[in-house]
Amino acid sequence: MNNFLGTSDIGRRKLEWLIETAIDIKAGSRPGSPLAGKSVALVFFNPSLRTRASMQVGIYELGGNPVILEPGGTSWTLEHREGIVMDGDKTEHLKEFVRVLERYVAAIGVRTFAELKNWETERTDPILNAFAEYSSKPIINLESAMHHPCQAMADMMTIREKLGPVKKNVLLTWAWHPKPLPMAVPNSFALAAAQFGHDLRISHPEGYELDDELLGRIRDHAAENGGSVEIVNDAGGSFDGVEVVYAKSWGSKNFYGELDNDMAFRQALRSDWIVDQPKMSRTSDALFMHCLPVRRNVIVTDSVIDSPNSVVIDEAENRLHVQKAIMTELIK
Ligand code: CP
Repeated sequence: MNNFLGTSDIGRRKLEWLIETAIDIKAGSRPGSPLAGKSVALVFFNPSLRTRASMQVGIYELGGNPVILEPGGTSWTLEHREGIVMDGDKTEHLKEFVRVLERYVAAIGVRTFAELKNWETERTDPILNAFAEYSSKPIINLESAMHHPCQAMADMMTIREKLGPVKKNVLLTWAWHPKPLPMAVPNSFALAAAQFGHDLRISHPEGYELDDELLGRIRDHAAENGGSVEIVNDAGGSFDGVEVVYAKSWGSKNFYGELDNDMAFRQALRSDWIVDQPKMSRTSDALFMHCLPVRRNVIVTDSVIDSPNSVVIDEAENRLHVQKAIMTELIK
């Protein structure tokens, strides 16, 4: 492992080993300070609670020093495009930013959300990949335009903790949200669920399909790992018999860069696409999962998120343990 950009380019055995290591770390059976004397940069282009706090605490608990940078806030605005004439509002190019930073630190974590402006560009994860291209030190994806692998690993760890190391019937369901959101979380959850061999059902309204190439990879991973993938457009029936419900909203590729059109189109979906108790009662006593932050009584009702089946706080805690496992493996 040279970088941690996504789970898809890491084999199942290694992913399972990382989760087993995270479980050991959580149990307190991996003492030591593998990051002693080392600093890790955390570059946040966007807001965060869980990712920022868990990375900062994790680096400290591993004996290292976190260096938090916020381009456009506490550090200079950054340009990432090659060959650009920098006569606009960007002060520094990533080429210098990364190559300076890597002289100080042992690894760089990056959060860079999709701007939801240009699908063909953003689906290639240009900013994250520019970091990986310019850096000779490990890059950790802390949520990019297309992937949130640390979240997906915490999710897989939570399913294993609660339901055991065997494949489960897992539902990834779209939920209504007033504005279109990036696809990183559903993309990474679906990829990881397929890599861990779960039987995955993805349910969304027509028009909210995931990326075609990514769906191909999800199907390939499922086939390689003894799982399955089913895609349905059914807000209620998709809950029948599942053991895990993972709720997330995302934007439509059809309206990418057209915020007002997506918001108008999705208005009709509001009443059907919420996770509520009647839908949860169709499941096989399923866990309720969400990456957070979540809008209560919009994505999920209070009665579901406050029920004993809700594991959203455990998922958030497991971010800490799984990221410590990833950093211990990456930073030598
Ligand atoms: N789930 C997650 O990444 O949360 P934050 O955006 O608060 O970091």
